[in-house]
Amino acid sequence: MIVANWKANGDTQKNYQWFKTFHSLVDTKVLSCVGISPSHIHFHQLKTLFQKTDVMIGVQDIDIEGGARTGSISASMASHEDCSFSLVGHSERRDFFNEDNELIGKKIHSVLQHNFKAILCIGETLEEHKLGKTKEKLKSQITDSISKLNIDEKLIIAYEPIWAIGSGKTPDPKEVNSIHEFIKDVVQSATANNFEPKVLYGGSVNDHNAAEFFNKEYIDGALVGGASLDADIFANIVNTYRRLKKI
Ligand code: 13P
Repeated sequence: MIVANWKANGDTQKNYQWFKTFHSLVDTKVLSCVGISPSHIHFHQLKTLFQKTDVMIGVQDIDIEGGARTGSISASMASHEDCSFSLVGHSERRDFFNEDNELIGKKIHSVLQHNFKAILCIGETLEEHKLGKTKEKLKSQITDSISKLNIDEKLIIAYEPIWAIGSGKTPDPKEVNSIHEFIKDVVQSATANNFEPKVLYGGSVNDHNAAEFFNKEYIDGALVGGASLDADIFANIVNTYRRLKKI
């Protein structure tokens, strides 16, 4: 799966141009592996543009419940609008909005209860990376948010080292591959039903480095920020995925 995280970018005109370009460059067969998370305000525009395709349109965040929570959208609201997935626990949410593992766990629970996919984002800081504490950090992010839940393929993990986001720096794909294997093991032992999830890599993925990630066994796709804003580049990434994963 290749997911575009548009963050707080886009406008109706740019999104329309993006759709036209992207759609003309990508084979329809691979579209069921593509997810786009625009801002909430553009969710329906993207739903409409891609309505005749299998592209999944999702949201970048969700609240734990509905009602008197100004500014929020709930999982129930999103599921009524046929939302395919929600990112949960992105490092920018953890950092700017003080989201902790407990809250993130509640968000995941709410999304899964409403029957759409949750993409749980985890990752270490540069300092933790340098101190060799990456696995310790990832393990606590996983166990503190999804322990004992009954999980199925609706839970996807995105490994996004914080220092790789928007920096142009990426870890060695071989190292990412072994971290993904570790993540799959941790999720398997943390969940009630020993479920092995798909794991996406995120952090400065572009059309030059995508192949090095996609040809690794445990890297099941990518979560793409900056490079997903350019339809040509994102289409190249999706086409690389299609070629290497033989879709
Ligand atoms: P970049 O691809 O811009 O590094 O962003 C990654 C990200 O945060 C996706 O969620």
